[in-house]
Amino acid sequence: MLNPSNRAETHLLERLDLARLPRHVAIIMDGNGRWAGRRHLPRVAGHRAGVRAARQVIESSARLGIEALTLYAFSVENWRRPQTEVDFLMRLLREYLRKELPVIHKNNIRLLVIGRSGQLPVPVREELDEAMKLTEANTGMKLVVALNYGGRAELVDAFNSILGELGRDGQARGRVEEESISNHLYTAGLPDPDLLVRTSGEMRVSNFLLWQIAYAEIYVTETLWPDFNTASLLEALVEYQGRERRYGGLGPGRRAGKPQPGL
Ligand code: IPE
Ligand code: IPE
Ligand code: MG
Repeated sequence: MLNPSNRAETHLLERLDLARLPRHVAIIMDGNGRWAGRRHLPRVAGHRAGVRAARQVIESSARLGIEALTLYAFSVENWRRPQTEVDFLMRLLREYLRKELPVIHKNNIRLLVIGRSGQLPVPVREELDEAMKLTEANTGMKLVVALNYGGRAELVDAFNSILGELGRDGQARGRVEEESISNHLYTAGLPDPDLLVRTSGEMRVSNFLLWQIAYAEIYVTETLWPDFNTASLLEALVEYQGRERRYGGLGPGRRAGKPQPGL
């Protein structure tokens, strides 16, 4: 359970129904560069501040009892950035792991990585593998870090893996079902995100979890990622709980109409 540390958090917690939390929250952590720019600092200072925000959101999500938290940390498109920025981000990731892994482990969090991690620098890959191994048996929140992740790349990898299996089994006539696609994604076994958060105001999904967000509630905040804190997370959760999820139907408390001809 979360221990509120100020009045804003206490007030928001009172409005939150802990029995109706989203099972899976996915976050596009955007705006580090703009945060730094506004302070006349180099972009990398924004990434450093972004790590502090991530630390807080991870801890608060775990304490609230959220089942899975997915953080978009580096996209397949982010290699287009200057080499110095890419190198800094990779170093920052290793530094983060080294510092935070004991805390993550102590909090019973399980670390998972999604994306084409085989293309990450070897030392990063090795440390990620060790971290995943260490936390493998943890039963608390699943912390899913999207690294060298792209939603289209993930679908391509899933289809190729399905094709490979069909070829091996000699069942090339088999049909592909939705469930089978879900089961071949990097996120196999995780519930689809209920809530997708994007910071810094951009109204786009930037190739994130394209298949999985089919019915996610989308929450966009102007807050830049380094300024996103526990209160910001609680605000997003309160707003989520005020939404009516219909999944194409009529929503609760409404009677179904007459079936339409042809349906
Ligand atoms: C998000 O912040 C972090 C990564 C994509 C790694 P940005 O670096 O995209 O910050 P802006 O969007 O330029 O402000
Ligand atoms: C999305 O942010 C990727 C991550 C947060 C890792 P970007 O800053 O890369 O997205 P665009 O370029 O604004 O769409
Ligand atoms: Mg950005």
